[in-house]
Amino acid sequence: MRVFLPVLVLLPGLAWAAPDGRDIVLHGNDNGALPCAACHGANGAGNPATGAPALAGLPAGVITAALADMAKGQNGTPTMQSIAAALSPAETAAVAAYFAGLPKP
Ligand code: HEC
Repeated sequence: MRVFLPVLVLLPGLAWAAPDGRDIVLHGNDNGALPCAACHGANGAGNPATGAPALAGLPAGVITAALADMAKGQNGTPTMQSIAAALSPAETAAVAAYFAGLPKP
């Protein structure tokens, strides 16, 4: 990673650059997706106060499937549906991979 980091810093925003799941979780995206961390916690442990379930350590496929359903309006609250719909498929995969890689709470 230490070797590749300068390359990533020098060439931001190129089409081949995969979306940064951690960045979306912490800051949302430019398409109106709110930062997941605001409700699910930066560590993905969920938050009873917001009603957001834990996502950390779930299989990426489970998170991806849940987001795809919500993006189609087939599950979830209206807030979560609009967030899911604001993620591109690549961004959905990136946030799912990020949460899947966090330790279970
Ligand atoms: C405004 C608060 C809020 C934000 C921001 C938010 N969520 Fe949620 N999320 C919730 C709540 C509340 C639920 C549970 C109710 C529901 O399913 O809609 C939920 C449910 C989910 C679920 C379904 C879990 C399951 O077991 O079915 C997933 C997956 C999810 N969120 C992912 C995300 C991701 C990824 C982001 C960031 C791109 C995000 N959420 C941002 C509040 C939020």
